[in-house]
Amino acid sequence: MSNPSLLILPGDGIGPEVMAEVRRIIDWYGDKRGLAFDVSEDLVGGAAYDAHGTPLHDDTMAKAQEVDAVLLGAVGGPKYDVLDFSVKPERGLLRLRKEMDLYSNLRPAQCFDALADFSSLKKDVVAGLDIMIVRELTSGVYFGEPRGIFEEGNERVGINTQRYTESEIDRVARSAFELAMRRGKKVCSMEKANVMESGILWREVVTEVGKDYPEVELSHMYADAGAMQLCRWPKQFDVIVTDNLFGDLLSDAAAMLTGSLGMLPSASLGAPMENGRPKALYEPVHGSAPDIAGQGKANPIACILSFAMALRYSFDQGAEAERLEKAIETVLADGVRTADLLGEEGVTPVSTSGMGDAILAALDASL
Ligand code: NAD
Ligand code: IPM
Ligand code: MN
Repeated sequence: MSNPSLLILPGDGIGPEVMAEVRRIIDWYGDKRGLAFDVSEDLVGGAAYDAHGTPLHDDTMAKAQEVDAVLLGAVGGPKYDVLDFSVKPERGLLRLRKEMDLYSNLRPAQCFDALADFSSLKKDVVAGLDIMIVRELTSGVYFGEPRGIFEEGNERVGINTQRYTESEIDRVARSAFELAMRRGKKVCSMEKANVMESGILWREVVTEVGKDYPEVELSHMYADAGAMQLCRWPKQFDVIVTDNLFGDLLSDAAAMLTGSLGMLPSASLGAPMENGRPKALYEPVHGSAPDIAGQGKANPIACILSFAMALRYSFDQGAEAERLEKAIETVLADGVRTADLLGEEGVTPVSTSGMGDAILAALDASL
């Protein structure tokens, strides 16, 4: 049997820096665990624009459709702010999500014990936190029509449309309930049914899907109140399911509960392919961090944890995913920190590759 295939798209800013550490972890699995991958690498975002005048070349899109999983670093940066909207780096990522039909975006927020003191919230509030945000990723206001900037009388009007079909809500809700069955058996659905018709439909469909999962306790919250509850007492949640835009905001907020945006991985999953595996793209939640790019300061953990999610959700290697997560936990417990995780006196930060070295050493020690 051939090796599973991975397409790596490092992207822009710190993307290539954090992805270099993931490449070392992938090589480790090939050398030490007999888990070899066929890895190919290509351009996305600003890097693809610089080379081809488009943030995602059609050939790259075609490759992404064929591989078992895509790993992406980050896209964007101030250099590209002046570009026309249609070729901005972010359009490359949105095209991948849309054309691969990756409707279910899993964004876990887990607080490692060693970082509980570092969260901007009190230790009690975050210690032991383990929640999963399921963000709808291929519809809603990100993609709804009509959209654009139009002339209206003597001024311009900017339009985006929040649009959800029943089947779009149904499939993402099902993925949230399936996850909840394997976790704490609770789903909280967030929308704004008090002001948006799409929210009313969202609530109705999620409630209907919930009837197929009688063991799962379903609750509903307005997304603004949900944001408040996430900060007040996040441990009340197990799985949160929400739309594309609310999910974008809520997952960045949840990231801070864990200490740093540099800690948060994600998996974007679609329908099963012929081999039974879901179409999948894995990426950190953070962006290209232009303020620290090129300085060796980026925390590679979010990207490495994204590879752990790939091991779990695309390659049936749950035990190996746990090995990698444990190695990261050990390294953090030993006090190894990149600059974004500092705050304590007397700790010297390690570089991006220094964090990679420490994680590889912990993996070796796990054998
Ligand atoms: P950002 O996530 O790039 O950075 C926000 C802050 O977090 C910065 O101070 C940054 O230094 C810090 N940070 C982020 N990741 C870090 C890491 N791994 N280690 C240490 N510190 C880290 O968000 P932004 O500044 O709003 O956006 C910058 C660019 O990235 C924009 O062009 C935006 O569109 C893009 N973006 C891309 C993605 C993606 O590719 N998935 C996600 C978000 C933003
Ligand atoms: C994210 C990012 C993206 C989004 C951008 C870069 C298109 O913020 O992955 O959270 O808004 O979805
Ligand atoms: Mn975001």
